[in-house]
Amino acid sequence: MRNKIQLLLQLGILISGRGSNMESILSAIKKRKIPINPAVVISDKPNAKGLAIAKKLGVQTEIIDSANYKGKRQQYDKEIISILRKYKVTPTNGLVCLAGFMRIVSPHFIKKYKNKILNIHPAILPAFPGLNAQKQAIRFGVKFSGCTVHFVDEGVDTGPIILQEIVKVSNRDTEKTLSKKILSKEHQIYPKAVELFARKKILIKGRKVKIQD
Ligand code: GRF
Repeated sequence: MRNKIQLLLQLGILISGRGSNMESILSAIKKRKIPINPAVVISDKPNAKGLAIAKKLGVQTEIIDSANYKGKRQQYDKEIISILRKYKVTPTNGLVCLAGFMRIVSPHFIKKYKNKILNIHPAILPAFPGLNAQKQAIRFGVKFSGCTVHFVDEGVDTGPIILQEIVKVSNRDTEKTLSKKILSKEHQIYPKAVELFARKKILIKGRKVKIQD
């Protein structure tokens, strides 16, 4: 069993709060839909709600409190990397999912885990990158919005796009109602993207991703 687990790809999930995307990925793994071992969930906030969910699902958790690393992004990320390595989430045998992780990751971390870090963003990129994407969409008056799973590169929400899903925006939508609609799509495409990655179906060419059947 131990050997089997070590051969599997190792997953690290980084969170800051609620952890509903993390939960959707962990649930899919539990249902054996994704061949990956959920090695560790790391939070930068000691009170992140997602920590209790991860524990309940039997996944190891770690806290690296960002309050202790003000202005020290690279040092913080070195600590993350050492925790990931402790759980065997390495650049060669690992995948890192940012799931509501409210920090910008350093170029050092991105270079080390090149094309091994995924993120989910609550908009159809390249529209509305950065914070408060749903609010930006409502303010702009778009008729459709949605969510995007992408690889993390050194820009803000600019990496190669893996999957997107759209939702219709009605006149009555508020930031809150739109966020809810988008979130239910996030919970579908994030586990799907992790599955595609784990099954080695993702091919990256430049900034384009090709999904193999
Ligand atoms: C999601 O809307 C995600 O798209 C964004 O942050 C939110 C995290 O929610 N990056 P949760 O913690 O996964 O519930």
